[in-house]
Amino acid sequence: GHVLVLAGGLSYEREVSLRSGRRVSEVLRTTGIDVETRDTDSSLVPSVLADPPDAVFVTLHGGAGEDGAIRSVLELLNIPYVGAGPDACRVAFDKPTAKAVVRSVDIQTPASVTLPKETFHDLGASVVLGRIIDRLGLPLFVKPSRGGSALGASIVRTAEELPAAMVGCFAYGDTALIEQYVEGVEVAVSVVDLGDGPIALPAVEIVPDEGVYDYAARYTAGHTEFFAPARLSEAAAAACATMAVTAHRALGLRDLSRTDLIVDADDRPHFLEVNVAPGMTETSLFPMAVESAGRDLGTLCRRLLESAST
Ligand code: DAL
Ligand code: MG
Repeated sequence: GHVLVLAGGLSYEREVSLRSGRRVSEVLRTTGIDVETRDTDSSLVPSVLADPPDAVFVTLHGGAGEDGAIRSVLELLNIPYVGAGPDACRVAFDKPTAKAVVRSVDIQTPASVTLPKETFHDLGASVVLGRIIDRLGLPLFVKPSRGGSALGASIVRTAEELPAAMVGCFAYGDTALIEQYVEGVEVAVSVVDLGDGPIALPAVEIVPDEGVYDYAARYTAGHTEFFAPARLSEAAAAACATMAVTAHRALGLRDLSRTDLIVDADDRPHFLEVNVAPGMTETSLFPMAVESAGRDLGTLCRRLLESAST
């Protein structure tokens, strides 16, 4: 048999996904298994029917890869895959919905407003933005409610910066999530579950060169400094780990996830979002966490595939 790594697709994160897919395929091959890597379009269905893989590793980011659509197709085809199911993905991928779910289990997440593009235009930009600033204050963080890799995301420090931030956001999605910006240390906590329940890997701390962890800072080697494990107090590290595992459980996720959060000056973590198909590129956080834990990425991915197919 063989395993299939799904990458590419048509989201804005296509290039990132192709890099994740290449990396996962390479490390899986080092463990001696037969790996097919493929770009994801409608030819997936006939090819999988003609030669069904033992299991699929989804490294599709954004859009159909993370919103549950591809996983519904795999369910329909009765092909095992690594990661959360379609319903959980749908909830987790929509940031405002995910925030509401984790709030219900007492996880702190920044106060926010969700604003569809139509509402923004119908009510008039200046009215809406004025009300948002009245309600949330400044600084703010603006991002598409469904997206990744910081595309369309920006920090807003003054009221004058907000309109441009909204335009940048709506270039990548129809709904904006506008959050209070929490100053602090940016941290990512990867979670894996090999059948014994979800466990947190060491937190990875992100220190971007230019202060902002944008698309370039994410995917250009040397543009960001990472600390794995993160330079946190023991108590803060434990709180981050608990938050990531609690979010993973509350959202009904499976196998792997990565929770992104901010640790404030009082050592308190604030949940930003969870990724159901975390990046696996050379500069991505999940592989760094695996390495920091002293584990081998290939072996881990292989075990995830094995546990998915049994
Ligand atoms: N959305 C990117 C791939 C990540 O979270 O790593
Ligand atoms: Mg993300």
